Amino acid sequence: MAYRAVFRCIAGCPGDYPLWDPIYRCPTCSDLLEVSHDLDALTDRSAVAWMRLFDERYKRTTWPYGSSVWGKKEWVCPDIRDESVVSMDEGGTNLLWAERFGRELGMRDLWVKLCGNSHTGSFKDLGMTVLVSVVQQIIKDGGTIRAVACASTGDTSASLAAYAAAGGIPAIVLLPRGKVSTAQLLQPIANGALVLSLDTDFDGCMAIVQRLSQDEGIYLANSMNSLRLEGQKTVAIEIVQQLDWQIPDVVIIPGGNLGNVSALGAGFDLMAALGLINKQPQIVVAQAEAANPLYRAYQNDWVFEPVAAKPTQASAIQIGNPVSVRKAIRTLQRHRGIVEQASEAELAEAAARADRTGMYNCPHTGVALAVLIKLRERGLIDASARVVVVSTASGLKFTDFKLGYHESRLPHITPQYANTPVELPNDYDAVRRTVDEHAAAVS
Ligand SMILES: Cc1ncc(COP(=O)(O)O)c(C=O)c1O
Ligand SMILES: [Zn+2]
Repeated sequence: MAYRAVFRCIAGCPGDYPLWDPIYRCPTCSDLLEVSHDLDALTDRSAVAWMRLFDERYKRTTWPYGSSVWGKKEWVCPDIRDESVVSMDEGGTNLLWAERFGRELGMRDLWVKLCGNSHTGSFKDLGMTVLVSVVQQIIKDGGTIRAVACASTGDTSASLAAYAAAGGIPAIVLLPRGKVSTAQLLQPIANGALVLSLDTDFDGCMAIVQRLSQDEGIYLANSMNSLRLEGQKTVAIEIVQQLDWQIPDVVIIPGGNLGNVSALGAGFDLMAALGLINKQPQIVVAQAEAANPLYRAYQNDWVFEPVAAKPTQASAIQIGNPVSVRKAIRTLQRHRGIVEQASEAELAEAAARADRTGMYNCPHTGVALAVLIKLRERGLIDASARVVVVSTASGLKFTDFKLGYHESRLPHITPQYANTPVELPNDYDAVRRTVDEHAAAVS
């Protein structure tokens, strides 16, 4: 059976566009596009047969199916030739049972999906492998693409630079100067991208890259290019797969440009359409209070107004005018959606508190954990609910945030869980005394 996927307008304008066209908006109404799959063709396999196929491929080495994105290739980008795929083994990240943290919150079934345990340290790799593979196929088929380009709050540029380098394709990244972590800035530098550090915020970079990509040959790699979301949607499928094909009750995800929540919803919707699941989870978007346009829309019957995003430790979601807001609202309306926000103190304390149970959270995961705590305290999440928190990046990329917290240097935050090294001379007695004092203090 030939599977087929095309771009279609999300507002329903007629017209199909091949995935190989450099097209990011509907030519009729300018709304965003989405990838639409031929569901009839996909029903040639039963739900059980799809689950078996995905399980057989999961984390094996047969190219390219061991990647958890390409293991679901028929549902993602069926027409890609295997030799065009640019993959660095995406997905297959830990879904950890947060037993101790859950117990602290009076929960039995709390899970954290560590999407940051990936090649470039964030969930962005899930989508970037798809986009760069399509670009590779366009080039192999004689298309002219001079470079791939993105605006970024740090993680998209890291991922684009790595995948473009793996595919031998030039990359251009536009970053808001001083608003990404040192590790995030270094990643595209190391991978040889043209790194443009602009005196503006993410929304400013986004406006410029959209103009740049109107130029023939500069291909837009932001998530308004819905190829990215096709890869990112596999996180929903992978979570269910890792739960032995059981659906969680609630999924909490941090939101910035709002592509990822739309992707998450699309993954669940496709599983439902093909009979793999028979109910939908509730989806919660967590936003930083400093950059909360979706939270405001949620409070206001989904009437959306962009905001000027203020500085936040959750720098990757410092976005005031999210490109995928309409997709996100549609997803939330279909999934009993909730949007909640976290202040700077709440996100930092939630990340640090969970770290004390063995995690190592990035600030965006801190936002999601703070929202979990709030919803639990308000009784909106039951003790027995199976909840998955999507951790979007590795804490290891956010050393300044972690160090600033533990050294009590973060603005407006008096840390409750600060832990600083005890500096001692090279002296056994001093070490022994400190160990004993510490033991007495914690007992
Ligand atoms: C670590 C991290 N978390 C969350 C997000 C938010 O994802 P989205 O912009 O798709 O809402 C991003 C990217 O913007 C990110 O890099
Ligand atoms: Zn349209």
